[in-house]
Amino acid sequence: MIGEFFIRRLSVAPMMACTDPHERYFLRLCSRHTLLYTEMVPAQAVWHGRGERLLAHNPEEHPVAVQFGGSDPRQLAYCARMAETYGYDEVNLNVGCPSTRVQAGRFGACLMAEPGLVADLVACMREATRLPTTVKTRIGIDHQHGYDALASFVECVSRAGCRTFIVHARKAWLQGLSPKENRERPPLRYDRVHRLKRDFPQLEIVINGGIRSLEQAEQQLAFVDGVMLGREIYHNPYLLAEADTRLFGDARPVLTRHDLVRAYLPYVERQLALGVRLPCMTRHILGLYQGIPGARAWRTYLSERSARRGAGTEVITQALSSLPTEIETERAFG
Ligand SMILES: Cc1cc2nc3c(=O)[nH]c(=O)nc-3n(C[C@H](O)[C@H](O)[C@H](O)COP(=O)(O)O)c2cc1C
Repeated sequence: MIGEFFIRRLSVAPMMACTDPHERYFLRLCSRHTLLYTEMVPAQAVWHGRGERLLAHNPEEHPVAVQFGGSDPRQLAYCARMAETYGYDEVNLNVGCPSTRVQAGRFGACLMAEPGLVADLVACMREATRLPTTVKTRIGIDHQHGYDALASFVECVSRAGCRTFIVHARKAWLQGLSPKENRERPPLRYDRVHRLKRDFPQLEIVINGGIRSLEQAEQQLAFVDGVMLGREIYHNPYLLAEADTRLFGDARPVLTRHDLVRAYLPYVERQLALGVRLPCMTRHILGLYQGIPGARAWRTYLSERSARRGAGTEVITQALSSLPTEIETERAFG
């Protein structure tokens, strides 16, 4: 079962203000194999010396990829080197973010209009590091209505040595839609991403956008090499608990939600001792009991009590003990 593209069979999407080191630590407890991405790190900030704060992560997070946003070859080459120094497993270039701030810096999704520049950036990053350099993109922007622009983009960038493309199966409108609206509209076109894999069988194609369950992920794997999930994991992290068994062939037992919380506690203790505030860590587990009795009580208790002055891990253990006892043994969704 272990193939060339196995590592990206399932991944969690980069999400600003969500996929921070605490979130990734918790998600790693849920799944040993799923590849985790950082949120987008601006290349300029690393270039100007903020790398230490922006690139620090926990050794337990592996496999973990760092995503950079930028369009300056020197800055991105520097970032790629830093990614290797910091021990990441992959460097990813953001060619999908539609925000106006990002466009003003001439990076993110607007780079889809400049495949030659993206190819140069990839070439510089690859020269600077031995890590795999990957690109996360959209199926098109603005005027790029058909499939051809996507295919020529991928062809051009792959000639610079990029072998892995993560494709959010939705076009980005750079004018008139906010980043949030750009994640709901225009409609998803999975067929375009499937066609990309058919046309470029030698490349690794990972599909992203609107996938909400492991069943859907498994269905997608008939057409592409990997599946990336974003919002669903953030709102319902327990979905990952069965991923190792179902998608990676790992026979080890699936942990219960309670097991995961208990495994997270020592980490939370350590972070509190370093001065991190409790809500920074509890916010990532608010959705853990989603869909089962007690979910709302768990969420309310944690969000209200974590914010109180001096709050510690007792808030989490009390929230656990307020849940119905039968949940204690409930594994995954079956
Ligand atoms: C809050 C939030 C922040 C995001 N930040 C990033 C980011 O930093 N880099 C990126 O490439 N995509 C970002 N995205 C887009 C996601 O990576 C993903 O492509 C998108 O949400 C579609 O996948 P989904 O439907 O599974 O959520 C973000 C999405 C959300 C919801």
